[in-house]
Amino acid sequence: MRILYLNGPNLNLLGTREPEKYGGTTLAEIEARVRRRAEDLQATIDFRQSNVEGELVGWIQEAKGKFDWIILNAAAYTHTSIALRDAIAAVQVPTIEIHLSNVHAREEFRHKSLIAPVCRGQITGFGPTSYMLALEAAVSDN
Ligand code: DQA
Repeated sequence: MRILYLNGPNLNLLGTREPEKYGGTTLAEIEARVRRRAEDLQATIDFRQSNVEGELVGWIQEAKGKFDWIILNAAAYTHTSIALRDAIAAVQVPTIEIHLSNVHAREEFRHKSLIAPVCRGQITGFGPTSYMLALEAAVSDN
C-alpha cells in the first residue's frame, strides 16, 4: 500500500500558526506519527507540503500508477481550487480529504469544499488524529 500525503499552504507553519485552532504539533511531528503507524500497517508513505497550487496539482497528476491513495489536506485551496478538484478527478487515485480543524464549525467560507465531491470521504476536526484516521481508512478499505 503506497500512500501520498499532500499538505497545502501554511501547513508548514503548524506548531506556531494559530495554535488555538490548529494545536501545537508541527507538521514534522505529524509526519513522524504517520510514519510510525504506517510501518505497523506495512504501508509506504510519501509526505509533502507546498504553498504553491500548481505544485500540488503536479504531484496529484504524478500519483497515477505510483500511489494507491492520496490523503490531502489542501488547506485554504480546499475552498477555492477548481484545479485541485479537476486533478483529483482526472487521475482517479482514491483521495481522502482531511482537516485538522472542523471546517464546518468555522467561518461560512470554510463550509464549502470544492474537492469533497471528487474525494472518497472527508475527515475533519480531529487535529493530528485526522491524519491517522485517514491512514486507517485507506488501509481498511477494499
Ligand atoms: C485546514 C482548514 C482550512 O480551512 C484552512 O484554510 C487551513 C487548514 C485544517 O486543516 O483545519 O489552512 O485545512
